[in-house]
Amino acid sequence: MGQGGTRRDFLKAVGVAGGAGVLYETMGALGLAPTPAEAAVPDFAPPRASDLALTGRAAKKVVILGAGIAGLATAYELRKAGYQCRILEAKDQPGGRNWTVRGGTQLRDLDGNLQRATFSAGQYMNAGPARIAQSMVTLDYCRELDVALEPFINQNADAYIYNENAGPSGKPTRWRTAKADVYGYISELLAKATDRGALDAELTASDKERLLAFLQNFGAIKGKAKNFAYEGTDRRGYSVEPGAAEQAGTVLSPPPSMSDVLASQFGTRFSFEFGYDQAMMMLQPVGGMDRIAYALVKAVGSDLISYQSEVRRITDLADGVEVVYRDAKGKERLERADFCVATLPPMVLARIPHNLGASVTSALGYPTATPVGKIGLEYKSRWWETRNRIYGGISPTDLDLAQIWYPSHGFHSRRGTLIGYYNTGANARVYGQLSPAERTERAVAQGVKIHGDIYRTELASAFSVAWHRTPFIEGGWVSWPSRTSGEYTLLNKPAGHVFFAGDWLSYYIAWQAGAFDSARKVVTELHERVMSS
Ligand code: PHE
Repeated sequence: MGQGGTRRDFLKAVGVAGGAGVLYETMGALGLAPTPAEAAVPDFAPPRASDLALTGRAAKKVVILGAGIAGLATAYELRKAGYQCRILEAKDQPGGRNWTVRGGTQLRDLDGNLQRATFSAGQYMNAGPARIAQSMVTLDYCRELDVALEPFINQNADAYIYNENAGPSGKPTRWRTAKADVYGYISELLAKATDRGALDAELTASDKERLLAFLQNFGAIKGKAKNFAYEGTDRRGYSVEPGAAEQAGTVLSPPPSMSDVLASQFGTRFSFEFGYDQAMMMLQPVGGMDRIAYALVKAVGSDLISYQSEVRRITDLADGVEVVYRDAKGKERLERADFCVATLPPMVLARIPHNLGASVTSALGYPTATPVGKIGLEYKSRWWETRNRIYGGISPTDLDLAQIWYPSHGFHSRRGTLIGYYNTGANARVYGQLSPAERTERAVAQGVKIHGDIYRTELASAFSVAWHRTPFIEGGWVSWPSRTSGEYTLLNKPAGHVFFAGDWLSYYIAWQAGAFDSARKVVTELHERVMSS
């Protein structure tokens, strides 16, 4: 360790000064312990039943705006300590964007389009959130609330990549084939450069040896005698499957040229699955994402929630808060509470009159809404399984539909529901401007390019959502042009007795985890305030 100390002395000293976390991290840096993934989830001490009771404090009342994940989680955690909660929800169902569409589900959008889903029994689409990463706090709520989970297949070697406008092939190509070719040629290039000495300034002789050994393994390239050529391998797949006796199978070959593979731009698709939030393994609730919302509703008590209740005004008072809303019958009503937790999307909140100050209004108007669209396509048969042997996963494309998702559940059952487009930005706007029937027509016309006529002939029904044109939601999610220009910081603090929460106030925007995390932060702050007053 230098300076005369033993390694144990050093670790002990660090342990004393910095606590166990620092000790552990230091051990990790020294290669003595794995870097602690366990420490990654921030601590949260939910308010406990005894907190108010044992200190003689009266139960405070909290009015929560919005019964999405942030609002429900706020009520769920506050109720543990006996807070009186009331949730005002403009829609006639809980969950917000956590929305599972089944047969009978209706949607009237801001453009007047009315849809009624005709999906058959057991079929559904998760119109909003649809995948959960293993690191996310969402899973802790699933455990606590008994929401059963199953794998969500975010990556499938047998799904396609389709880049219509890149390269000469323009053909749907399996992920496994695209990877074999891209990894193969990149390995060939790097091996040649290494062997020729082009990297001698960076590499020692033994580095070079190890790098070449790695590249031969990684890219399945030939050895030095064959100039490290990539000639294709069975990683690409087979045109005739291996089988019994003398049937060795026929490997798909030959691979396209290096130039064609670079032109295909397949390589740009791979980083998606490296993403911290998108890497397999991922999960989904059995039966639909809204199982989470309904489990929260059950836990807080459905009598807490007033549906079809639109907030009209928020007034901070010297000793509490007052919320005016319009109830299901169109009557204006007043809700008085000690605190308010406002979880509506910022663009919706920005239009609600309040007395919280002009800086709050302009901060609420600062994040920009992202247009997002999704369509569910129910098919009479699961041809993608029987014909293409694709069991779950996603085919990314450069078409305006962006992606096709194959269901991760119900394998080999009679029917199945694909996601026929999941797009954002300009593509989502284009689809959003069409009538629901035109959206289906356009999505199917694009999908036929990948899957052929069956994509049209087996279609049973469709349901689409343009989140940016959905009442009380108005966007798939938001983005902050800057988080350091004041607005984000301001809204992450209470304005008088009004707290703000939602995924939009977290670093997990567009994830339920962000809504949970934000709710937990607000619950902690609100509770600390109550306990210290
Ligand atoms: N959570 C959403 C999804 O998984 C949106 C998102 C996409 C967020 C990609 C981050 C990265 O589709």
